[in-house]
Amino acid sequence: MKKVITYGTYDLLHYGHINLLRRAKALGDYLIVALSTDEFNSEKKGKKCYFSYEQRKQLLEAVRYVDLVIPENDWDQKINDVQEFKVDVFAMGSDWEGKFDFLKDYCEVVYFPRTPEISTTQIKQQLGNKEQSND
Ligand code: CTP
Repeated sequence: MKKVITYGTYDLLHYGHINLLRRAKALGDYLIVALSTDEFNSEKKGKKCYFSYEQRKQLLEAVRYVDLVIPENDWDQKINDVQEFKVDVFAMGSDWEGKFDFLKDYCEVVYFPRTPEISTTQIKQQLGNKEQSND
C-alpha cells in the first residue's frame, strides 16, 4: 500500500484544500493529514483558527480522500512521521516549494500548484469586510 502524507492548518475548509487533498490521495492508496494543533498554530505559526483542532479534524475525517488525521505539534516531526507511518510520498502545496526537500532522503517529495484565488486568510478578510460594511 502506497502511503501519502500532507501537513496543514485546514481552517474554514475550502475548495483549494479539497483540490490539494484529492491530488495528494491520487498519488497513492492511503492519505494521512498531519493537522496543526491549536497550540502549534498560535505559538509557532502565528495563526489564530476559527475552528478548533477537534472541529477541523472532524471536517477532514469527513472528506473521502482522507484516511487518517494525526496532530502536527512541531516543525521537526516530519522525518519521524515518515518513518513511523512508513510514508512513501510527502505532498504539499506550492507555497512550500523547496522547503521540505530534505525529506527526499526518506521519501518522494511532491509540490502541487495552489488553487488560485482562494485561501483561509482571504475568506476571513472578506467576511471581516462584510461585517464592517454592515455596521
Ligand atoms: N492550498 C492549496 N490551494 C489553496 C489554498 C491552500 O493548494 N488555494 C494547500 C496548501 O498549499 C497546503 C494545504 O492546502 O498544502 C493547507 O493549506 P493551509 O495553509 O491550511 O490553507 P490556506 O488557505 O493557504 O490558509 P492560510 O490563508 O491561513 O495560509
